[in-house]
Order: sequence, then C-alpha cells, then structure tokens
Amino acid sequence: MERLIPPTPSLKGTLRVPGDKSVTHRGLMLGALAQGESTLYYPLKAGDTLSTAQVMRQLGAEITEQGQHFHIKGVGLRLKEPGDVLDCGNAGTLMRLVAGLLSGQETFAVLTGDASLRRRPMGRVTLPLRQMGARIEGRENGQLAPLAIRGGGLRGIHYELPVASAQVKSALLLAGLFAEEDTEVVEPAPTRDHTERVFRHYGLPIEVEGRLIRTRRAEPFAAKDLTVPGDFSSAAFFIVAALITPDSEVTLEGVGLNPTRTGLLTVLKEMGADLSWEVTEGQDGEPVGWIRARSSQLRGVVVDPQLIPLMVDEVPILAAAAAWAAGETYIPGLEELRVKESDRVAAIAKNLQNLGVPVEAGPDWLRIRGGHVAGGGLVEPFHDHRIAMAFAVCGLPKGVTVQDAEWASISFPSFWEDLERLAGKK
Ligand code: S3P
Repeated sequence: MERLIPPTPSLKGTLRVPGDKSVTHRGLMLGALAQGESTLYYPLKAGDTLSTAQVMRQLGAEITEQGQHFHIKGVGLRLKEPGDVLDCGNAGTLMRLVAGLLSGQETFAVLTGDASLRRRPMGRVTLPLRQMGARIEGRENGQLAPLAIRGGGLRGIHYELPVASAQVKSALLLAGLFAEEDTEVVEPAPTRDHTERVFRHYGLPIEVEGRLIRTRRAEPFAAKDLTVPGDFSSAAFFIVAALITPDSEVTLEGVGLNPTRTGLLTVLKEMGADLSWEVTEGQDGEPVGWIRARSSQLRGVVVDPQLIPLMVDEVPILAAAAAWAAGETYIPGLEELRVKESDRVAAIAKNLQNLGVPVEAGPDWLRIRGGHVAGGGLVEPFHDHRIAMAFAVCGLPKGVTVQDAEWASISFPSFWEDLERLAGKK
C-alpha cells in the first residue's frame, strides 16, 4: 500500500506509544515458562509480538487476549514438543531467544521465518548454544534458519560475546536457566538489559558484575503480572518528527526510559534539540516517564560509536534528523546495522538520496550533509518497518510518498493514524 503524506505544517499534542517490543517478547516467554496464570498488561500487539504469542502457544502455553492485555497460563518450565514448524515471521528477537529456550528442552523443534529473517545471521546464537550442549542444525552449518533444535543436557559456559547484542546475551541467559553450573556472558559494550530486569521481576537467578552477567539453573517459578512500558523506539519517530517540523510540540507519555535504550536522547541534545524528559515511576523494574520535543534548529555532530548499542534501532530516525540539521553528521560503529531487518546502512543511504540529501556510506559508517531535504520524494522501506517510519518522518515537513507503508505494523500498527492525529487531520 502506497501512502501519500502531504506537506505537514505543524505537529501538536500528546501521545501514548504502544508497548515495548523487547519487553513484550520477554514477558510472553517468561509468562509462558512460569507456573500458573498471569496477565501481561499493555503489551505490544503487532506483527513481531503476535508471532511470539503464537510460538509460545505451540510450545504449550495458553495465551489469550483479554482486552488490551494478554492472559497467560504457563507450563512450569517444561515446554511441549511442537507439532509443527515454529514460524518466527520477521522477528529476530523471537528466533534467537526461543532458540535459547529450546536448547534447554528435551524436545525437537524447527524454527523458520520470513525471507528477511532467513537471511539474518544465526551462527551468533547456534555456536554458543552448541557449546552448551544443544544439538542444532541449520542451513550453512547452522548459520541460517530454518534451524532444527534438539535440546537438553546443557552445561553452563563462560562466553565472551563477539558482538554487542542483547539478543545473543538473552538467548544464552534463557538457556542458562536449564544448564548444570553457572552460565556467564561478558558483553563487549552494554546493551539493553530487559532480560536481566525481567529475570529479577520473576525472582530468577541473575547477577551482574560490570559487563559480566551470570545465571544458573532455575527451579519452577511462580507466574506474576508484568506491565509493559511504552516503546522508546516508537516514541523516537515522534520525537524527531516534532524537532524537524516547524511550530511543533509533542509530548510522549508512559514511555520506557531505560538508560540502555535512550542513547538517541544524548545525541539529539548534542545536536541542539529542544527536548526534555523525566522518569516518573519504576514499573516492574523498568523506569518510565514522559518526553517533550519542540521544533528545533539542529546542527550536525560526530556520533560517539560507544552510543550505538544504546540506540541501535534508532539510527534510521537519527539519520532523518541529520538530514534536517545544519552541517554534517558522521555516524560510525554501524556494522550491526548491516544485518538488521534490512541492510540498514544501504537502506538509509538510498532513502536519503531519494529525498535529495547528500550522503556517503562506508562499510560501517554514514556521513550525511543536512539541510537539503526535497519535497515529494519516495520512501522505499526494503521490507523494514523502521526504514518506512523513519523516512516518512524525514519527508513529513515537505511531503513524501511511502511505498509499502503497511510494514509499520511489524512494531507500530497505529503509526499512520497517530501521525495524522498529531498533524491535526483527525
Ligand atoms: C533486541 C536487541 C537488538 C535490537 C532488536 C531488539 C532485543 O538486536 O536491534 O530490535 O529485544 O534484545 P541485537 O541483539 O541484534 O543488537
């Protein structure tokens, strides 16, 4: 579906973004593993997390929709052998985390996904999970899905992560719940710590010493309700939309402000953004609060590569902000962006070119010369929800056409409606 966005003179209002995708995946998985019944409040109900609900149902959990929420009846650590292939759709988090869970189970299961997910690197989880004792086969010797997993009999390992990836860390921690002896993971740089926080919420074993995270075999644990905060990654689109659109002020409420997710705020502040935020509550272990963004004249910056793991999903929307900034923005440390839902370095460069923005791309960097966005450009999402939304925002002030706009529903089904409401069209 193609979507024509007319030039937007102003954005005004307050928005509560949908639930956090990462926390929803983890809430569904741990609720499914727990013993007894619980409610996952305000989860994200979108393509990726509905795939997780379906996979956990196939593994024996009872998951039903209860209004906005999910009611979950867990299996008490013993998952059922699935009767069919498990389809992870577009969700890398689902495939990698559930590979960890299945490694701990005496079952046989096959994981597959859509064309994008079947191209994404799985060796980063299959290699350490095999070291723990799981038997895993897959295309290219376990580098690519479909993956076939027969788990059980795991032993803990000490593993230094070769990449800063919360998905790999989480896969090993989940497998570690079923392993003899301790499982230790060392991160090269801090990444989102939702798994550690959710483990604490359920009283599961978890110790953090700097970059080292340790867990061990778990006893059956009691189900417990969990409330999901608003997704900072979804809020990010509206933050930047308000900054680059004249005469705008947008307030986001109930947003997760976990410091391992908010690197974008640091960079936007450095760019001169009129931005404020406050943590107002701690919700089941996650800091939550509000963010307010007003129209700003941004300036280009050199981004600290250390911040990239703390804003790994926000690079497309940062590129959109850079397109409107005076001067040049240089973003290094982007090697992981090449293996996301699309090759995001290439997809960002192509969409900036489509919008008339001078850009250079290297193997792991982007250089963007701001201040030259043309009206009436074309956004090509490359089957990637965040590329669709980021460049729709980039084109918003002058008008833009978005191809395959339905991709937004992978993580943010109400995105287009929310945008129209803040633009005063609804
Ligand atoms: C996620 C981790 C990140 C992120 C993804 C969600 C998670 O992936 O890009 O959208 O929920 O753990 P990597 O672990 O590949 O960096």
